[in-house]
Amino acid sequence: MDEIKQNRNFIKSNFARLEGITTDQEKGLPHPPLQKPYDEESAKIIELPEVDLNVLKKTDIFRCLKERRSRRQFTSEYLSKKELSFLLWATQGVDKVIKDGYATLRIVPSAGARHPFETYLVVNRVDEIDNGVYRYLPLLHQLLFIFTEDDMAEKLTEANLGQRFVGDAPVVFVWSCIPYRGEWRYHISAAKAILLDAGHICQNLYITAEAIGCGTCAIGAYDQESMDNLLRLDGEDEFVVYLAPVGRY
Ligand SMILES: Cc1cc2nc3c(=O)[nH]c(=O)nc-3n(C[C@H](O)[C@H](O)[C@H](O)COP(=O)(O)O)c2cc1C
Repeated sequence: MDEIKQNRNFIKSNFARLEGITTDQEKGLPHPPLQKPYDEESAKIIELPEVDLNVLKKTDIFRCLKERRSRRQFTSEYLSKKELSFLLWATQGVDKVIKDGYATLRIVPSAGARHPFETYLVVNRVDEIDNGVYRYLPLLHQLLFIFTEDDMAEKLTEANLGQRFVGDAPVVFVWSCIPYRGEWRYHISAAKAILLDAGHICQNLYITAEAIGCGTCAIGAYDQESMDNLLRLDGEDEFVVYLAPVGRY
């Protein structure tokens, strides 16, 4: 019961008012990078097409909201690169960098504009993109190739507690968080803000997937260690928080 109470108090925690805590921001420490760094020399970059509204099949916001459902059955059809570009923009795309690189303003909101997430894609059936694991680079709207691995569909299914529609989907969005991006400003209370923020991202995916004739399903039932290992994340300073397969239904 103590643990339940503790977690309820966590839900009630107020990240805007931290009593007796001096945050790293208040200490004057530099803010962490807006995007996870990578080796630019050796990077294999894929340019994404500009966001093109021709991918939209439904432009009526009422219909997109009304017809949104969690979809767990996808056809074998491929997504196009333009569709993927649109979904990445809608979920983590950057509108502008503000205050000389202090923060980004994006399509989704984020407490204190901290945007503490990275987006990984497990690509299985996307036109013009080889299968593999990629990371979205929101500052330049590009994809960074990370690795390929045999039997990815099986491994993904297993890490998602046997949810086969996840492993078999044309593309899976996997969101990791880099907690220090939030903790720099909100210290221990960053955790609440991070979880609130994750919801906005996935909801934007639901609505925009629906708008392009695709579907998605939020996934919270996964094995933490397996997913972190699968994406080669350290599980401490960066770990998976949420994921969502996308495909036509
Ligand atoms: C935080 C969260 C985690 C979820 N995890 C899973 C999951 O692991 N597997 C799954 O099939 N559905 C999952 N769902 C989808 C819910 O089951 C679904 O939203 C709910 O049944 C209502 O259906 P609807 O989305 O079609 O309205 C999750 C939804 C949320 C918001």
